[in-house]
Amino acid sequence: MSTIIRASAPAKVNLVFEVGQLAANGYHPVNSLFLALDLREELTLVKGEPGTGISIYVHGDSIPEAHINAVPTDHSNLVHKTAVLFAKKLGKATPDLQIDIHKRIPVAGGMAGGSADAAAMLVAMNEFMAQEHGTERLSINELAQIGAELGSDVPFCIYGGMALGTGRGEIITPLEDLSFQTNWLLCASNKGLSTPTVFATFDELGSGTAFTDLKDISAVSSAEELGSRMANDLEQAAFSLMPSLSEQVAQLEELGAIRAMVSGSGPTIAALFESEAKAREVSKVLISQGVVALTSKGGAQGSRLDG
Ligand code: C5P
Repeated sequence: MSTIIRASAPAKVNLVFEVGQLAANGYHPVNSLFLALDLREELTLVKGEPGTGISIYVHGDSIPEAHINAVPTDHSNLVHKTAVLFAKKLGKATPDLQIDIHKRIPVAGGMAGGSADAAAMLVAMNEFMAQEHGTERLSINELAQIGAELGSDVPFCIYGGMALGTGRGEIITPLEDLSFQTNWLLCASNKGLSTPTVFATFDELGSGTAFTDLKDISAVSSAEELGSRMANDLEQAAFSLMPSLSEQVAQLEELGAIRAMVSGSGPTIAALFESEAKAREVSKVLISQGVVALTSKGGAQGSRLDG
């Protein structure tokens, strides 16, 4: 029987995203507080016929079709790059693979959708190469090291939970989980925002703040307190590129969100609610207005194999 591997990885939201000045390496140093959400990308990897190379299929019905169509299925897809890089690291040829990606995370939305695909692919490849080529399985830290070469958010999508991200976001320090459940409503835009464009706009606006100590965040005891700590240095840049976002943030807070904020480089807005019931109630209002609104819980596991 053909080898089939299933794996998944979570979306992230940056509860705090502090951004410094552009460095010579083309990246901005960041001080980020990541939280993984139970919105997961699911990936299925099947051994392909010899000589067929890598085929990628993308589908999903919880996000707009335009998002699914925007994902490339050729060598520029991050999952394709992950397969090539991982095999190279093991000194092996890239295997023939059929890869199915079930997308749930808004595309180009500031929630690490592409990075979650890469994170899921890394654990799937780790298993596939062990089963098919007898290679030794790499540790989670080794997978995160390879992940950092693929994208700044990939290591966090591997670890999950709640963590600090420093460097360009790829140096992960895991933190204790919060003592309470967080309930989120994620509002996706029809159009995505390019991360480099948002960072470049941030440079033009000069809107960075000093880095603060975020290690004590695990000790916050309520959603209210957590909401008061939330901040995103990229938010003004996202607002200036997509002015409707600031209205949407205001609307979410009027509808009862403790705090609504652009997630990472946007344009998805992450809104924190006191209860799951309240988040669902508001999602119904927004969905009736044609908004793509997804409810989700915080504190999810990182990338993993799924039976
Ligand atoms: O690491 P990743 O490939 O996700 O980054 C995409 C782009 O976002 C980078 O090429 C860079 O322009 C910008 N970026 C940045 N500073 C970071 C992370 C990303 O300027 N810390």
